Amino acid sequence: MKDFNIYNPTKIVFGWGVIERCGIEAAKLGKKSLIVTGKSSTKKTGVLDKVIALLKNAGVEAVVYSGVTPNPKTDETDEAANLGRKENCDFVIGLGGGSAMDAAKGAAVVLKSGGNLWDYVWLPSKKAKQINDAAPIMLIPTLAATGSEGNPSAVFTNKQTKQKAAIYNPDKIYPRVSIVDPSLTVTVPAKQTAEGIIDIIMHVLEEYLTGETECDLQDRITEGIILTCIENAEKAINEPGDKKARTNISLASTVALQGLPNSGRAGEWVVHPIEHAVTGIYDNIAHGSGIAAILPAYLRFLFDKKPDRIKQLSMRIFGADEYAEEGELMEVCAKGFEDFISSMGLANNLKDAGVEKSMLPMIADKLIEVSGIPGIIGNKEKLTFILKSAYGE
Ligand code: NZQ
Ligand code: ZN
Repeated sequence: MKDFNIYNPTKIVFGWGVIERCGIEAAKLGKKSLIVTGKSSTKKTGVLDKVIALLKNAGVEAVVYSGVTPNPKTDETDEAANLGRKENCDFVIGLGGGSAMDAAKGAAVVLKSGGNLWDYVWLPSKKAKQINDAAPIMLIPTLAATGSEGNPSAVFTNKQTKQKAAIYNPDKIYPRVSIVDPSLTVTVPAKQTAEGIIDIIMHVLEEYLTGETECDLQDRITEGIILTCIENAEKAINEPGDKKARTNISLASTVALQGLPNSGRAGEWVVHPIEHAVTGIYDNIAHGSGIAAILPAYLRFLFDKKPDRIKQLSMRIFGADEYAEEGELMEVCAKGFEDFISSMGLANNLKDAGVEKSMLPMIADKLIEVSGIPGIIGNKEKLTFILKSAYGE
């Protein structure tokens, strides 16, 4: 296990109905808020009006930016920041899924540090402007998926270049407080619920697969998060109002990226950067759907590189017999995730997810431009092999 520091300053207010506390918590951050939210869901479900009313009761004004689209674009974030500046907002509230929460983080940066959001994104070909300051951030997730509510990352798409890239800044963009109320997720449709579940799983699986292995506690935390997701998936999808399922999945989402599960691993993220290259090009594909379409092929690619990790997953997640023949044992893991993904109604390959075969070279190029080829993949030939396998060839 590698040495590590954990410093996570975000106050998490967690529980069914805790949305009622958002006004009191917001009043500790400022007098006038910029609420950054998506185009329709928070209006339809009534949660936007509810939050505005709770803020008002606590003496906090609200200005609303409701132009965030899934896989949020840098220009939406710039627009939100300009509105916040014009209205003299002193803090930012992200209300919605990961897209709205990430856009809120970006707006908080641009509001205080100036410029445009894309200036702060680092690429191998471009330096990033330093984030000097950011407005205080409060997040209210309405969808369990990204864990943005407890981490200092945010992901954006540049429409012009079709590059999707992240900002990461533990000094400036940890939310001060996040109100994680699983009751806000009961309106999430089945497909988005499933996409969120596979995303949560991937947040702990990335470094479990590639990082340090002598991390018994982190292994068990990771496996616990994966099993919690698998065991509650059917209920959350088929009985969307189920309190137990929604609560457990919301907690899994927040905990997955809060620090401890991936501590001491120093592992490499592989499926996420590939997926970001996919959705940077295909704005109509959701992040979780992209993850689901790449994961089974990636697991099979790891059979000869990380056999012990794969076998452990086969046994501990899917109950495989440890005395089975090695190839058979590893296939239990790949097939297990493949079946789980389709049982939730998602595509388990790129073709069924809507990617055209002719776009595979461009996906490879965008990955190389934004983050480079992951070390465990090694070279462009092997990257092409994984993409073709994920496509279904
Ligand atoms: O856009 P609106 O109208 O709000 O509707 C959304 C959207 O259509 C809808 N929705 C959200 N809450 C709902 C709801 N519908 C009904 N009831 C509710 N309670 O769901 C759709 C998807 O929302 P979105 O925010 O795009 O989904 P998600 O939470 O999966 O976020 C995805 C984005 O986060 C990034 C992804 O790359 C993607 O851009 N990620 C952010 C991370 C982070 N900050 O740490 C880590 C992740 O790995 C990920 O990369
Ligand atoms: Zn993710």
